[in-house]
Amino acid sequence: MIYKDVKMTLRTVPTKPFDDQKPGTSGLRKKVSVFQQPHYLENFVQAIFNALENCKGKTLVLGGDGRFYNRHAIQVILKMAAAAGFGKVLVGHNGILSTPAASCVIRKHSAFGGIILSASHNPGGPGGDFGIKYNTTNGGPAPEKITDDIYARTRYLQRYYIVDASDVPLDTLDPTRLGDMRVEVIDPVYDYAEMMESLFDFPAIRQLFASNTFSMRFDAMHAVTGPYAHDILENRLGAPVGTVMNGIPLEDFGDGHPDPNLTYAHDLVETMFNGRSQHPASRGTGTSMCGVQPPDFGAASDGDGDRNMILGKRFFVTPSDSLAVIAANARLAPGYHRGLAGVARSMPTSMAVDRVAQALNIGCYETPTGWKFFGNLMDAGRVTLCGEESFGTGSSHVREKDGLWAVLFWLNILAVRQQPVEDILREHWAKYGRNFYTRHDYENVDSTIAKDIMAQLHNSMATLAGKTFGMRRVAYSDDFSYTDPIDGSVSTGQGMRIGFEDGARIVFRLSGTGTEGATLRIYVEAYEADPAKHMQDTQHALADLIGIANQLSGIREKTGRTEPTVIT
Ligand code: G1P
Ligand code: ZN
Repeated sequence: MIYKDVKMTLRTVPTKPFDDQKPGTSGLRKKVSVFQQPHYLENFVQAIFNALENCKGKTLVLGGDGRFYNRHAIQVILKMAAAAGFGKVLVGHNGILSTPAASCVIRKHSAFGGIILSASHNPGGPGGDFGIKYNTTNGGPAPEKITDDIYARTRYLQRYYIVDASDVPLDTLDPTRLGDMRVEVIDPVYDYAEMMESLFDFPAIRQLFASNTFSMRFDAMHAVTGPYAHDILENRLGAPVGTVMNGIPLEDFGDGHPDPNLTYAHDLVETMFNGRSQHPASRGTGTSMCGVQPPDFGAASDGDGDRNMILGKRFFVTPSDSLAVIAANARLAPGYHRGLAGVARSMPTSMAVDRVAQALNIGCYETPTGWKFFGNLMDAGRVTLCGEESFGTGSSHVREKDGLWAVLFWLNILAVRQQPVEDILREHWAKYGRNFYTRHDYENVDSTIAKDIMAQLHNSMATLAGKTFGMRRVAYSDDFSYTDPIDGSVSTGQGMRIGFEDGARIVFRLSGTGTEGATLRIYVEAYEADPAKHMQDTQHALADLIGIANQLSGIREKTGRTEPTVIT
């Protein structure tokens, strides 16, 4: 390869620590304006590099979801990586890499680690959010031990190192040199698409699209998955052009909120529900009000491509159910035909997958919220599949959740089973029972009030066991703490859990990804074995538990809110 040299000089820049650089559930996320403060980004990047044992000569992967500030941050990080002595950086074309693709590239090229620039599903643009996180050699988010170390270093950082050089061209695939460091610009889709082709039955999916009896819409929400979906769905799998909606990535996501749920993926929801109620419990297969049939399958992904939403014709699949269905049907996909080593779910995720694991006689792990807790289990070969209620599903093929992967898994299942999504769910519930599930988010709550609510709940945990609320008796209640079975590390304060004797649960947690005020999340779940009761409306089925949750937390009185900001 011929490398174009970019001339450079090394510079040491004196700086002062910022006191708000503690990484949250998934890296450091702040308003763009916070990142635009002089030295803010540089300080955090230097703290990452300082926390790494020895990066001299090593390979770093770099890319982001293309949101506003991505291009600037990529150039800064390249120049700081050169100053830190990295040997090579693999950077996505135009600075783009979806989060799962970054994980795939780190693993495939045995890189030392990677830096991913994204605030995931949070809005972008100059008034929106930006974020940065470090992933380790296994391709997964840095564990708490490392993020704590990075944070500690941000508290006393006095200088950072950067080379003065002109910007590295990222709009061509030609390699460059920054001093001794090689910069290779890579096609962001290639490695990822190749991996998907190795996991799923592409010929069967191709046939499904060719059959003319099946149609699909994928909403890329003007975010990073646009190019991935165009290439994989339309080029490789032969889905008709137009299958991918909002497929051009934009720096502000077209002024949208790139979160694939029933509230924000409105273009897709409108198409799939065809003018009918968009409520999660909506269903029906008849002709719509305007006589046009919605597509058979709908899906969406978020800002950085790690989340997914799965829809059937006028039918919403909860992420918890999606995980359970994928687990139950995993053998239908060539990459998983030998079965699963085990499964894992985050604590607030519904227990639907637990029932599948029990039937398959495989291990089932309950971890705190956040993908970083799955890494050790996957590295140790204990689990193949994992998921979160927050529209995150994935497997050990990478170490991030993976939006398009989940969509392809569903396509593989649909291609083999040749049934509507709704029928697959009905059959699943008939076999395993249904875990009704909902999450109520109260966003932008005053932080002091939110902390108060959590403190009061925390104090009440010790006294709830044995108490009866309506028809339900509390079996246990605690503030969830997790001991990692692989490295023994302990994570405390991961959310209040109240479990009832009939299998119902209520969980309270504060969000660790928000950038404004506090977001209080209430997760509610109830188990129903009787198929005659499976078609109830979710909010109705859970009404008594929602009432208990409101009563226990006093959230409405304390915040003055009469209803949640978002219900999923
Ligand atoms: C949220 C989700 C969590 C997910 C994270 C990153 O975190 O709840 O499951 O891992 O985003 O996508 P939270 O804001 O709840 O801390
Ligand atoms: Zn995301």
